[in-house]
Amino acid sequence: MQAVIVYESVYGNTRAVAEAVADGLRGARPDAVVSCVPVAGAGPDVIAGADLLVVGGPTHVYGMSSGPSRRLARFAAAGAPVGDEPRVHGPGADAGPGLRTWFRSLPQAPPGTRAAAFDTRADMLVSGGAAQGIARRLTRHRYDLVTGPEGFVVESTGGPLRAGERERAAVWGASLA
Ligand SMILES: Cc1cc2nc3c(=O)[nH]c(=O)nc-3n(C[C@H](O)[C@H](O)[C@H](O)COP(=O)(O)O)c2cc1C
Repeated sequence: MQAVIVYESVYGNTRAVAEAVADGLRGARPDAVVSCVPVAGAGPDVIAGADLLVVGGPTHVYGMSSGPSRRLARFAAAGAPVGDEPRVHGPGADAGPGLRTWFRSLPQAPPGTRAAAFDTRADMLVSGGAAQGIARRLTRHRYDLVTGPEGFVVESTGGPLRAGERERAAVWGASLA
């Protein structure tokens, strides 16, 4: 099996979930080739040949990020409090395209290609998350969703992930195998 996990992340939390999903997949399928790449590195050559595509991004304004929300997040990140998690994961790490833009140039999936969508989100009372929009786009690109959209909770805008979410992401990743 060849699995590719594509993530968008401003503060590093979605990246941490993506890496945990990758670890879970590798644990469940030691024979699998699993790569975990940021949106900017996920060109068609990286996706080609994958029989499982997992896509995750942060929830911004009840859905997927947009140009303005990403600018706002980067601006806020510059002043985010420092905790035990990486806040902005490397200079220019999120300067590339967001998932919305990336999806526009994603080729249609070969028949039978599986996929799953996840997001990170704050624990807000209002429902909605980026994973629904990601799942919709995957379906439009003819991917077969193997499970429903999944959300992983951060304690606040810059993180960290809520205790136990990393482990839950690994279990979720294993279930995709
Ligand atoms: C501009 C902006 C809007 C946000 N809107 C929401 C929202 O509507 N619902 C929510 O649960 N979290 C919201 N958040 C919190 C993000 O989901 C959180 O920053 C994200 O999960 C962190 O992921 P990252 O570290 O990968 O960037 C928002 C954050 C930003 C910066």
